[in-house]
Amino acid sequence: MQHALNESIEIEVMRYRPEQDKAPFLQTWVVPCTEDMSVLQALQYIKDHLDPTLSFRWSCRQAICGSCGVMVDGIPKLSCKTFLRDYRGRIRVEALANFPIERDLVIVMDSFMEKLESVKPWIIPKEPRALEQGEYRQTPAQMEAYAQYSACINCLLCYAACPQVGLSPDFVGPAALALLHRYNSDSRDAGAGERMPVVGAESGAFHCTAVGYCSEVCPKGVDPASAVNQAKGASVREYFLGFLGKGGGK
Ligand code: FES
Repeated sequence: MQHALNESIEIEVMRYRPEQDKAPFLQTWVVPCTEDMSVLQALQYIKDHLDPTLSFRWSCRQAICGSCGVMVDGIPKLSCKTFLRDYRGRIRVEALANFPIERDLVIVMDSFMEKLESVKPWIIPKEPRALEQGEYRQTPAQMEAYAQYSACINCLLCYAACPQVGLSPDFVGPAALALLHRYNSDSRDAGAGERMPVVGAESGAFHCTAVGYCSEVCPKGVDPASAVNQAKGASVREYFLGFLGKGGGK
């Protein structure tokens, strides 16, 4: 049930329209709000009633699609999962940090898409199987080994939180490394040998300084910091096994 309008909130929103603005700036609107209203709904109110030119991404409104990430008072958040009742009087909504801005709250994701592709986030089986040969079976324990990391929705909050992404834009980053670890940990997969060079590369996991803020802001409990640490460990193990002539990877 929609609660009655009971107060209003001042929302400062980052604007940037490249065809007319030299640099991003903040524009303030007053939005009537209800107890159950999300930041995304406030942005939609502005677009519907105050300024139809405001640009932002969203789709599912249920913390599933990962498209609505923004900075709320300087902290990376999903706008659909962040509620105005937790703020009083005034909030600031900006585009996710550490990404170029395409327009208003919309960031350019091209570099992330390249990083994601580089970790081959799909099952690379030992032997490809035809459909009629049936499914790949796993025990609950085998599924448990990667389940947490498969919850990533690529919302990029972890990239906005990561100080190393800010300092070194080439760093492959938390979500891509979490997905790399997810597939390397899957009993159906034999592709670790193809992925591990990404971990050990100059732009790879050893760029991470273990601040851990990526895991704090993750809205799905993925814990990318743990995945990055485990990928580092696997890389070191692979190095020493290679040194001893025993090979690495799966
Ligand atoms: Fe899909 Fe927020 S709109 S995660």
